[in-house]
Amino acid sequence: MAAKNIPKIVLGVTGSIAAFRAADLASAMVQEGWEVHAILTADGARFLTPLTLAALTHRPVHTSLWEEGEGGRMSHLDLAGSADVVVVAPASADCLARAAHGMAGDTLGAVLLATRAPLLFAPAMNTQMWQHAATEANVKLLQGRGALLAGPSDGKLACGAVGPGRMAPVAEIISLVKQVLTEKK
Ligand SMILES: Cc1cc2nc3c(=O)[nH]c(=O)nc-3n(C[C@H](O)[C@H](O)[C@H](O)COP(=O)(O)O)c2cc1C
Repeated sequence: MAAKNIPKIVLGVTGSIAAFRAADLASAMVQEGWEVHAILTADGARFLTPLTLAALTHRPVHTSLWEEGEGGRMSHLDLAGSADVVVVAPASADCLARAAHGMAGDTLGAVLLATRAPLLFAPAMNTQMWQHAATEANVKLLQGRGALLAGPSDGKLACGAVGPGRMAPVAEIISLVKQVLTEKK
C-alpha cells in the first residue's frame, strides 16, 4: 500500500471511444480515498486529455515512457513496484493483445509487464472485435495468468452495434477493486 495505508491504484486508459468514462472512474477512485496514478496511452490521449485526468487525480498523468522520472528514476518501474492494483479501463483490443504477449513498448505495457500487482481489465470495443478469436485467445491468456476482467457489458455501442462491448459500469469496477484490495490485506 502507499503512504498511510492509502491504496495506490494505477489506472491505464487506452484508445477506446469509452475513454471519456475513465474520467468518471478516476473521480470515483479518488472519492474512495485512493491514490490514483493515471497512465494515458498515445491513442487514449486522442479521446481524453491528460489535463482532465490530472485535474481529477490531482497528479501528473503518465503519457510517455520517455518522461524523466523524479530524481532520474524510471517512473514506469516505480509505478509497477508501488501499485496495489493496476486497472486498465477502458482496455482496447490492441492493449489486451499487447498485454497478453508481454509487449512493453509504451508506459502501460511496461508497467503491466513489470508489476506483480493484481491486474484488472475493463475491455471496451465493438462486438465483432470482442468476439474475435484473437481477442478471446488474448483474454484467455491474461486470465490464465490471474488477471481479472470487468465486463464488458451488453448494450448499444457507440458504433451502432448491439451486443457485448460496453465498458463495465464504474460502480462494478470500483467494487472489484475493493474486493482485490480486501483480499490483499
Ligand atoms: C473513433 C475510434 C474509436 C475507437 N474505439 C475503440 C474501442 O472502443 N475499442 C478498441 O479496442 N479500439 C477502438 N479504436 C481503435 C483503437 O484506438 C486502436 O486500436 C488503438 O491503436 C488503441 O491504442 P492503445 O491501446 O495504445 O490505446 C477506435 C478507433 C477510433 C478511430
